[in-house]
Amino acid sequence: MNRRHFLKTTAAVGAGWLLLPSGARAGKNAPGNKLNVALIGSWGRGEAHFSSLATENVVALCDINEDHLAFGAKRFPNAKTYADWRKLLDDHKALNLDAVVICTADHTHAFIANWALNRDLHCYCEKPLAVSVEEARVVRANWLKRKAKLATQVGMQRHANPNFNRTRELIRGGAVGELQAAYAWGNRQVRPAGCEYDAKDSDDKTSIVYFKDKPGVPAGYLPDAGAPPKNINYDLWIGPSPFHAYNPGYFALGPGANCLSWNMFWDFGAGQIGDMGSHTMDLLWNCVDATLPTSAEAKGDPFNPAITPIKCASHFEHPANDWRGPIRVGWYQGRVMPKSPIGWLDLTKIDHGAMFKGSKGVLVCDFQKRLLIPVGDNADMTYYKSPTAETVLPPLGHFQQQWLDACKNPSLKTACDFEYSGNMIEQLLLGLVAYRVGKKLDYDGKTGQVTNCPDANQYLSRKYRDGWTLNG
Ligand SMILES: NC(=O)c1ccc[n+]([C@@H]2O[C@H](COP(=O)([O-])OP(=O)(O)OC[C@H]3O[C@@H](n4cnc5c(N)ncnc54)[C@H](O)[C@@H]3O)[C@@H](O)[C@H]2O)c1
Repeated sequence: MNRRHFLKTTAAVGAGWLLLPSGARAGKNAPGNKLNVALIGSWGRGEAHFSSLATENVVALCDINEDHLAFGAKRFPNAKTYADWRKLLDDHKALNLDAVVICTADHTHAFIANWALNRDLHCYCEKPLAVSVEEARVVRANWLKRKAKLATQVGMQRHANPNFNRTRELIRGGAVGELQAAYAWGNRQVRPAGCEYDAKDSDDKTSIVYFKDKPGVPAGYLPDAGAPPKNINYDLWIGPSPFHAYNPGYFALGPGANCLSWNMFWDFGAGQIGDMGSHTMDLLWNCVDATLPTSAEAKGDPFNPAITPIKCASHFEHPANDWRGPIRVGWYQGRVMPKSPIGWLDLTKIDHGAMFKGSKGVLVCDFQKRLLIPVGDNADMTYYKSPTAETVLPPLGHFQQQWLDACKNPSLKTACDFEYSGNMIEQLLLGLVAYRVGKKLDYDGKTGQVTNCPDANQYLSRKYRDGWTLNG
């Protein structure tokens, strides 16, 4: 019996005893029933995975920052350390690797995820799964080919909040009547370090930024600050993206928040779409059972070649499915908000939330709470099928653990696998394409092409530096 087969068998039989060739005992925490995991990005968000990974064998760590690698090695002293994730994955056989957890900067997520899947490794990837439509499609397709044997999860851990189940039950039970539209929003406005806004700009021109040290110079990437410190392998941090000069501003914030130093730049992230957009659209996505939209349109800040829009609203049309008619889905960011359906309901009091509109009412929610408002004289709730003790959705449990369990038992599912999350992020990233071209786009989800605006197709993918392969 090979190791992988053994892991799956022991997970399937649960706590039962199994005779190993070595005679070792099996059980949840028996040495033979642990996954060999690599943690890529061993500080910041990576630290949030330390305790769940401590139940497994962390056999490899990777970080482009020597100090951060040492931080991870302190917790997992037996792990082999790497600066370059490609070298780590080259060694996957020697490491007897089963799984990877990806906590690097967004512009490398789809790369590492594809390389890991192509080596038959289970994969947990921090959100966002991708920063271009093409990346989302490639990584999803790679997983779909292997979904029977590999477990995937995107780091949208709020999905384990009970409110996700409760809102889904309300929508599926028809509490708002026939679902017609759903909107999600997030109010974060994050600007690059060292920049300020010209006081003359109106609030609606927030993307026109000026650096403090170069007044009057329109925003670009952060200014060249000379050679990077020795502990940072800056070339590996840039990775597949076009090169931009080193600036400490990309590494300015504390553990778990440093993504806010770089994720607004086109070459390193997708702004709030990839950040809170991943979490908040998940709140909506979980209730609507949508796949890919047939259209996308978006409006936001004036285009800035370096920085993704802070204020933006995008809208998508989704075809009917087996339980609802066609719906319109919206994403609003940077304090652009959907219109409140009722005068006394102030949606701006909800920093990150979602709203579902139906023929008989409205459901408004954030990650913890929900508010159902039946609307109209006929909204008497007789049409609502509430869950019973038998049909109420069970708690998801611990989000990272759900993935670890699924790695060991292929019959178990994960909530935010690369299909669910890949579709969700593809939709949001298509919105950014519509924003760039300023047109309503017709989209063919089968081919991944915009059919009414050839100009838009160039923005579905990114240009990579020589030597970097997305699907390696
Ligand atoms: N799920 C959540 O709630 C949540 C919260 C915060 C961040 N995140 C996500 O986690 C990721 C990391 O965010 P962060 O704030 O920790 O960022 P960060 O810039 O601090 O990066 C995390 C670690 O990864 C290392 N790293 C960066 N690029 C690397 C590469 N190519 N190879 C190896 N190591 C690399 C960094 O040196 C750092 O130690 C982001 O994608 C972010 O969106 C998710």
